[in-house]
Amino acid sequence: MTSNLTASLLAFGIVCASATPMLAQTAETPPAQAGAGAAAATSGNAPDAPATPPVAPQGGAGAATATSGEAQPATTPPAAPAPAATEEDLAVKADGGKLVLPNGQDITPESQENGRWYNAEGIPTYKIEADGTVDYATFSGYRRYSAECHVCHGPDGEGSTYAPALKNSVLKMDYYAYQEIVASGKQEVNKAANLVMPAFGTNKNVWCYVDDIYAYLLARGTDAIPRGRPAKKESKSDEFTAQEDSCMNG
Ligand code: HEC
Repeated sequence: MTSNLTASLLAFGIVCASATPMLAQTAETPPAQAGAGAAAATSGNAPDAPATPPVAPQGGAGAATATSGEAQPATTPPAAPAPAATEEDLAVKADGGKLVLPNGQDITPESQENGRWYNAEGIPTYKIEADGTVDYATFSGYRRYSAECHVCHGPDGEGSTYAPALKNSVLKMDYYAYQEIVASGKQEVNKAANLVMPAFGTNKNVWCYVDDIYAYLLARGTDAIPRGRPAKKESKSDEFTAQEDSCMNG
């Protein structure tokens, strides 16, 4: 009797422990979550969460972190095999001298427009010189990411317990899918998760730099640049400035 009661109290406690952080994950609160996420970003359970629709791992990961690890032993072990598979998936293949993502997208910089680099199909990409100097757009992407996305997605595109590691997302989804989500947002709201990706299509501080953020995330995802602020960057070109002004003031 006593042990039954204890067991159900315990079970109730666990339900509460996992329910509370979920309720806290509303659009208003992500900064607090991001703090926890930043700390947990290297734990390895964030990168793969978005790719797999099943809700249980998401809830598990959120609950485990939000309760400072108390619930972890019960919920996290099943996620262990994921990181190994992920690293394999994310390798950049050299295909006849081209840089190609696992999703087949070629990211070799071919031409420049408005101070930004594009592949042969006009999809934004990065260009890093041998001495580590990053193109200005990629640097701009670092700045905008840090200002607008970091709060939920963690530093350096690494992900948090609240939102996926975008440095991995951009290797799997294509550019147009990325653009659409940034423009229109995305939501996963159900019993196990309350994840809200805001729509940024009318926010010029994001939308004028959406390609820069993309190029920066590609560079992070392919390990072309290390974590943190790029040490050396190309100077800002007149073309870049002109396009930026027309977007921000247009
Ligand atoms: C308020 C928190 C928040 C902010 C700020 C935010 N995101 Fe998100 N984002 C999320 C959440 C939560 C998800 C997962 C949504 C889901 O799975 O339904 C997400 C998902 C995404 C995805 C899809 C990733 C995938 O693998 O499916 C992309 C792309 C994305 N965000 C880009 C951005 C960019 C770029 C910025 C900055 C301009 C940004 N987000 C800012 C919360 C945020």
